[in-house]
Amino acid sequence: MDNIKSLTGMQDHFNDGDKDNLSSKFFQVEQKIKEIFINYKLEEIRTPALEDANLFNRSVGNSSDIVNKEIYAFNDRNNKTIALRPEGTASVIRSIIEKKLDQTTHKLWYMGPMWRYERPQKGRYRQFNQAGVEILGIKEGFPEFEMISLVCSIINGFNLKNCSIKINHLGTKENKQTFCDALIQYLLPFKDSLDDKDVERLNKNPLRILDTKSEKTQALLENAPSIKDYIDQTSIELLKSIKDQFSDLCDVEIDYSLVRGLDYYSGFVFEAISSELGAQDSFLGGGRYDHLCKKLGGKDLPSIGMALGIERFAELINIDNSSAKTVSFLIVTSNLEPKAYKIAHQLRALNKEIILDVHLSDGSLKSKLRRSNKDNADYAIIIGEDELKNNTAVIKYLKDELREQQTVTLDELYSFYKSI
Ligand code: HAM
Repeated sequence: MDNIKSLTGMQDHFNDGDKDNLSSKFFQVEQKIKEIFINYKLEEIRTPALEDANLFNRSVGNSSDIVNKEIYAFNDRNNKTIALRPEGTASVIRSIIEKKLDQTTHKLWYMGPMWRYERPQKGRYRQFNQAGVEILGIKEGFPEFEMISLVCSIINGFNLKNCSIKINHLGTKENKQTFCDALIQYLLPFKDSLDDKDVERLNKNPLRILDTKSEKTQALLENAPSIKDYIDQTSIELLKSIKDQFSDLCDVEIDYSLVRGLDYYSGFVFEAISSELGAQDSFLGGGRYDHLCKKLGGKDLPSIGMALGIERFAELINIDNSSAKTVSFLIVTSNLEPKAYKIAHQLRALNKEIILDVHLSDGSLKSKLRRSNKDNADYAIIIGEDELKNNTAVIKYLKDELREQQTVTLDELYSFYKSI
């Protein structure tokens, strides 16, 4: 019988303790990002993985690749069309409207898997994870600064190099429409030389043409109208001010050709990219979406948000070695000795900063010490039959070869552990 394999484009994340392993980095990103979010006083929201498929048609948009080609939608047993969420923003707004919380402000974060039926390649998966933030109920101004401050904190918090934040402004609904009309007028005479994908974009969502991968279209766009000439001076000032405020923290660039792949954006948009990622170089994206809540049946709720792709981001980071100290707890007795486990339990309660790794399998002291060293443990606490009889323990200083191991009383052990 054939073994059952995971589905194309879907991966397991398994932390085997190897710090260079991508999964180890993935889990560290999750942990640290959460700390950053809490530091910004954001509250957690968790929405279901499955939603009514109409939610995404009405928010992410019919003209987006996500809804057009990538959505995982199917009929359930009741013949209702449901979809695995391709992103988190629409679900957050759906939830806020449903709970009648759409008349107040909220600062929210979420983390979890998303699904898009894409052609898998490096950095592009069918199941991937996002860490997202949505600031709801506050019009353009401070939230834009808070959002870029957060992006800088993420980039600098992980010591990332070779990355930049691109920012742009799509103007008002009217500005966006006038610009799109001008873009169509400019490109129509060249329609026959555009590839099928760009013709489709021109018909459905002309802004997305600015994202073209075709070199021919890119060349044509060099002389095309620029959004810069269609948005208000205040929008341009906002971009300049954000660049000025944050340029000493991160590389912030105004890019008037930056557009986003989802239809709900209006106003300020941004992306963080890294030259170390190859073709899929954007590891974070977001922007303002002031009309989404109303469009989904709620109140007028001006909002802004962003999401980070955890898999892509994990590719960029180096594991922080200054993390918590690890102590190996080695019980070397021929019988099961519950008292030893009680000592370990008490140690854990005394110092919550320390990772206490009780070696659960049988084996000689030598093999247990070998594993402790492999795991990069700082100390080993050894309890054998003699120690149990005498109420003592042995402390071995694994990172200090010159220092002799020490036999201590249990009280001394507890004091030592507290002081690590
Ligand atoms: P997005 O740009 O579609 O925006 O996705 C955000 C991030 O998710 C991307 O920058 C990328 O790192 C990651 N990502 C997207 N697709 C894939 C994939 N197939 N495989 C791996 N990683 C991927 C949004 O989803 C918006 N909801 C962001 C937002 C929140 N805007 C406002 N609020």
